[in-house]
Amino acid sequence: MTRKILVTSALPYANGSIHLGHLVEYIQTDIWVRFQKMRGNVCWYVCADDTHGTPIMLRAEKEGVTPEQLIERVHDEHTRDFSGFGVKFDNYYSTHSDETRQFCELFYQRLKAAGLIEARSIEQFYDPVKAMFLPDRFIKGECPKCGAADQYGDNCEACGAAYAPTELKNPRSAVSGAKPELKSSEHYFFKLSDPRCEAFLRQYTHHAEGRLQLEAAHKMQEWLGEANEHKLTDWDISRDAPYFGFEIPDAPGKYFYVWLDAPIGYMGSFKNLCAKQGLNFDDYFKPDSDAELYHFIGKDILYFHALFWPAELAHVGFRTPTSIFAHGFLTVDGAKMSKSRGTFITAESYLQQGLNPEWLRYYFAGKLTNTLEDLDLNLEDFVARVNSDLIGKYINIASRAAGFISKRFDGKLAAADAQLPAIRAIVEAAPRVAELFEAREFSKAMREIMALADGANQYVDSVKPWEMAKQAGKEAELRLACSNSLNLFRLLTVFLKPVLPAVAKDAEKFLNIAPLTWADTATLLPAGHAIHAYSHLMIRIDPKQVTALVEANKESMAPMKRRAPIRDKNIEKHINKLQSDNEAAGALTTENIPQISIDEFAKVDLRVARIVEASHVEGADKLVRLLLDIGEEKPRQVFAGIKSAYDPAALQGRLTVMVANLAPRKMKFGISEGMILAASDAEGKTSGIYLLTPDSGATAGMRVK
Ligand code: MSP
Ligand code: ZN
Repeated sequence: MTRKILVTSALPYANGSIHLGHLVEYIQTDIWVRFQKMRGNVCWYVCADDTHGTPIMLRAEKEGVTPEQLIERVHDEHTRDFSGFGVKFDNYYSTHSDETRQFCELFYQRLKAAGLIEARSIEQFYDPVKAMFLPDRFIKGECPKCGAADQYGDNCEACGAAYAPTELKNPRSAVSGAKPELKSSEHYFFKLSDPRCEAFLRQYTHHAEGRLQLEAAHKMQEWLGEANEHKLTDWDISRDAPYFGFEIPDAPGKYFYVWLDAPIGYMGSFKNLCAKQGLNFDDYFKPDSDAELYHFIGKDILYFHALFWPAELAHVGFRTPTSIFAHGFLTVDGAKMSKSRGTFITAESYLQQGLNPEWLRYYFAGKLTNTLEDLDLNLEDFVARVNSDLIGKYINIASRAAGFISKRFDGKLAAADAQLPAIRAIVEAAPRVAELFEAREFSKAMREIMALADGANQYVDSVKPWEMAKQAGKEAELRLACSNSLNLFRLLTVFLKPVLPAVAKDAEKFLNIAPLTWADTATLLPAGHAIHAYSHLMIRIDPKQVTALVEANKESMAPMKRRAPIRDKNIEKHINKLQSDNEAAGALTTENIPQISIDEFAKVDLRVARIVEASHVEGADKLVRLLLDIGEEKPRQVFAGIKSAYDPAALQGRLTVMVANLAPRKMKFGISEGMILAASDAEGKTSGIYLLTPDSGATAGMRVK
């Protein structure tokens, strides 16, 4: 019977690049989906960008673009990265879509009608300068437990304590630097604590029901607690303006929280696919649907997918997920991915450095299990595994046999020996390998496939075609040996096709055959079948490529002194000359000013600013009060110590450069919300002050970097 299957991967946030950690998930899902399709099942794979929320709104603002422009650009980048790694969605959409909006409204209305939405007033930190409520992650201060400075509002990275942002000592807004104030506002809650939700979830998340992996089911037990504990708490699903998201229909100025619309985005993307493909949406989402629904996710977002999501679906009147497949996190060389070590590797850089994406797909497959355990990308092992397994064991079988068939037999094969032990082993293993793929036991499947490849190589080594080729009268034997080899290669290609789609496609071309499906594990190529000339299907990894990849991802430049000595004599001489020239001329040396990394520099948000108003400040003999337009709704007020050099009237209308993310400072005359840039002599004497001006063409709000 053909199964109808709908598969999703988590929707990546639209404010970041895809990295190798993400790819664990998308590659895992893609392999499983490709396997299902090869089995002849109807299987749809949908995903989308997760586009809403405060971070995206603020990032767009910082870049001087609209959120819509930002998410459109990122959508293109994500699409490019995924297709570069062979991750083949049937639809890659966006949560910022009509479909998702309509479903959000429907969820809200139906949950409300069911009495599962409640409005409640809560107190939250508010940034008076930025005029917005602050998410926990945008509040920083000293840890209430250990006193560590510069900790986020939800937990301390130094001691691991979790707390409420209101417990932080000396809290400040990470957006403006202002001291946050407590302010109350009405929020909407999804009543997860309702007995109906709890009863439903107890049954739904029970391991015996087969929806959750054992470890995940245990987590659920922990979150649900004992029957009399009532541990579930209601879920805040609204946020106040300013927010980038969907406005709640009957509550102007209130928006659906991003995590409310994100999973609904799965449905939005599928609905969009249905329109394109002429599919019936209800077949997949009605409560008694016979279609299967699977969500692949990372273990960090289990709470959202196993509690809120099924509880919502059940009470809105849709089907619930068949299973939730959670995976662990990627580490590189045994540690969390790190920007300074260069192991926070982006998908883009991997492709740009010219590494073959299928090397990584294979390596991940070799590590993936169906548990929540973390997996490690060991860079040395990566090179060794790929070279020994893929090149040494798999590709070699074809490359060693193909030449003889092409040159000596006009490309035509003899009938292979179906009783050959190596061939029989593969044919017999097919159902087992299929079970392993189905169960997401990819590492076990890869081990099994490589053991079969070992068997194939032992066969080739035992018959030694290259020796037969030198002996007279061995034509038929040579042709049979090579035909057996190529059939072995073809069968192994079926098994590896979900993992190595591009290699498989080239292999199909070279073997001159139709796209392989799982059913091809039961057949052999017929006698007389003509193949094409062999050309390289995959080359070895050079360890130098991996070193270069890590280098390319090292974000901050190490301080000069610690860098490797410059080898090039000419460059060295040139630098020495520059240094001595400077000293001789008595120029300002930057020696005692500490170096900063590009990261640190990037923290300074420099903007082109138009001086819309400049005026004297009563009672201040150095200051001029400026109102600066940097493309924001309201101009910023800045007090600048430039009175000795500039007449306010002459400043009106001109462009300059300002530091836009300087923490606001309360002065005697009002709040100064930034700083403008000016040059002066070494001592900073007020004799000469020179305001910076951008070249003509620059406009207010442009970023300076
Ligand atoms: N936007 C949410 C998901 C919403 S789903 C309705 C989100 N986005 S994310 O970009 O942070 O992560 C996307 C997926 O990638 C998540 O499943 C996450 O667990 C996974 N991974 C992100 N970093 C990862 C690793 N280092 N290792 C493995 N998976 C990782 O969460
Ligand atoms: Zn602490």
